[in-house]
Amino acid sequence: MRRSGLMIVTGIACLSAYAGVPALDQRVDSLLVQMTLTEKIGQLNQLSPRGFGEFALAVREGRVGSVLNEVDPEVISRLQHIAVEESRLGIPLVFARDVIHGFRTILPIPLGQAATWNPTLVEQGARVAAREASSVGIRWTFSPMVDVSRDARWGRVAESGGEDPVLNGRMGGAMVRGYQTDNPADPTAIAACVKHFAGYGAAESGRDYNTTWLPLPLLRDVYFPPFEEGVRAGALTFMTSFNDINGVPSSANRWLLQDVLRDEWGFDGVIVSDWGSISDMIPAGVAADRKEATLLAAAAGVDIDMEGLCYPAHLEEWVKEGKISEETIDGMVRNVLRLKFRLGLFENPYTEIENRPVMYAPEHLETARRLAEEGTVLLKNDGILPLGKKPGKILVTGPLADAPHDQCGTWAPDREKSRSVTPLAALRRMYGREAVIYSPGVRYSRDNSGDGISAAVEAARDADVVLCFLGEEAVLSGEAHCLALLDLKGRQRELVERLHAVGKPTVAVFMAGRPLTVGREIELSDAALYSFHGGTMAGPALANILSGDVNPSGKLPVTMARLTGQYPMYHAHKNTGRPPFWSVDIDDIPLEAEQTSTGCTSYHLDAGVEPLYPFGYGLSYTEFEFGTPTLSAQTVSKSSAVPLKVSCTVKNTGNRRGEETVQLYIRDKVASLARPVKELRDFVKISLEPGEARQIEMELAPDRLAFHGLDGSEIIEPGEFEVWMAPDSSSGEPVTFTLTD
Ligand code: NOJ
Repeated sequence: MRRSGLMIVTGIACLSAYAGVPALDQRVDSLLVQMTLTEKIGQLNQLSPRGFGEFALAVREGRVGSVLNEVDPEVISRLQHIAVEESRLGIPLVFARDVIHGFRTILPIPLGQAATWNPTLVEQGARVAAREASSVGIRWTFSPMVDVSRDARWGRVAESGGEDPVLNGRMGGAMVRGYQTDNPADPTAIAACVKHFAGYGAAESGRDYNTTWLPLPLLRDVYFPPFEEGVRAGALTFMTSFNDINGVPSSANRWLLQDVLRDEWGFDGVIVSDWGSISDMIPAGVAADRKEATLLAAAAGVDIDMEGLCYPAHLEEWVKEGKISEETIDGMVRNVLRLKFRLGLFENPYTEIENRPVMYAPEHLETARRLAEEGTVLLKNDGILPLGKKPGKILVTGPLADAPHDQCGTWAPDREKSRSVTPLAALRRMYGREAVIYSPGVRYSRDNSGDGISAAVEAARDADVVLCFLGEEAVLSGEAHCLALLDLKGRQRELVERLHAVGKPTVAVFMAGRPLTVGREIELSDAALYSFHGGTMAGPALANILSGDVNPSGKLPVTMARLTGQYPMYHAHKNTGRPPFWSVDIDDIPLEAEQTSTGCTSYHLDAGVEPLYPFGYGLSYTEFEFGTPTLSAQTVSKSSAVPLKVSCTVKNTGNRRGEETVQLYIRDKVASLARPVKELRDFVKISLEPGEARQIEMELAPDRLAFHGLDGSEIIEPGEFEVWMAPDSSSGEPVTFTLTD
């Protein structure tokens, strides 16, 4: 123990000062005064049950405050009865679970939901998840994850809203509202947990749990905004991240948890550690042992120790040694009790376990299907799609065509794969069994045997169209499932190459937890859809899009790179002092060329500088035309209360109804710190009939032009800005305005 004399005292209001204290705080405090120190620490201890008897005893003695990973409604009910009826103070437990993208009805992975660019629909999805999870007694989910993710090697990109702070914030806020509703005490509401605070997505080399180096401008401009949005949406809980930021693990970062989250943003909910992230400080090399880790976490403001290896063992010792005050403990316990009161658990601790008709309710399946439809991105279409009602004989092939487990994606612990409707099943239902030939080619994404490829190629000769479902198994993305190479695994490329040689019209459909480097496979296909892992209803959603019953409207929430080595890759990059105004392909470099022969600019010799597809990209079966934006003023004062209005006409020039996402980008042309070449500031998804044109107006308040300086302070600098509205991050016609003092 290297630190000494660390006395933690928080400014907790005096218990007797009831006058003017809101009713909730009074209830919390009147309970708190009755609690022993052991009971208080019990509220800060979150455990997964391991064996009923011993766990029940801990609950009865008030040594556990919340439970994770118990989903059996009978067990939940028995434990809750013990907590409420047999523990000394009758404080209810709160049951938590990783309900990340649905409980039983599995929705698309969060990255796929972000591809909808439709927060209203995402909110409905979270409501589905909450209704199903709460029906067994779960009242707290560890979602949304709003970690900005700019490196697809990181397996957890699947759980995020992608590379952009605005998109992550909108999706995260929508999920918070969907889980909690306006009234978290409603028995169908569950507490949201905004995670992982903070910077987790910046893990070096996209390797999970890895260190991050994040200067204040990057933290505040990019990584923080979605979390602040979570507070604004009313999230009841936050989770710390596993990574360290500049050497300080988040669970020991008082600046992060207290100064920023509580003092600056006004968060008054619960801060829970990640699983064992307090004891992880030992291997991280910042705590000698669990006792020291306990002090660091409590001092930083972590209320609950998830998988309590530290707090139950050492908090009391620290209090007795005078290094942690009981007032500090009281503050932590208050946060936990407040959560339980807010969830209405004191009034309504039990769940009616007979009353569970909600799993797979038709409206839940419909929401799941709509999310999977809107989250599917049409990347290429040489005119083969939509297939229409009579495409002739269809060969369905590829490892994801009939993979009911894998289409659910990562973090779907409560999935029942028998309920997944696969693309094969949905296409058979749509076109009839006789119209569909099935020959998987490769059995699963990593299958290296190649046994089935010849059979699939033979089958293609009899088909009029080939639908090839490629991608990755669920287990290749998610927590601790990172990759160093994002090409398709196994012999999937060989399958595509050999099918291509047959010469039949081919559609590649990718189902994955991340953007994969699939340029070659797309090149060899006539059309390509990217659907991420689409959940229970992925099959019907894809069949509807392929047939044309549904017009695709998804847009990429991440940049798709050509080669893995291009990551981290994102639209809001800096220009550098040597932007690549020209580039030379590696194969065109003459032998023994001079050092400067390729031009001294910023690009990879073997990949150039362009992505495969840019952030925000996605086609439709119709076409949209964007007009030049117009502005409400050419100059705007930075103190103006009236925002700049940016307008643009968007027209559906095709012959079917379609949805388009209008994206607003800005560029700060010259600033005291180099600014990104483009930054998404707003977006709206609209639906237009054929021939219909609509004027879209978005507001840009001066504070949306701000950035953060090296010391973390907010700066709004006068100068020239560009602004434009576009269907994706690589197009659009900028117009200029000036921000004045
Ligand atoms: C670890 C993960 O990082 C976190 O996202 C999850 O919520 C917890 N485990 C609980 O399972």
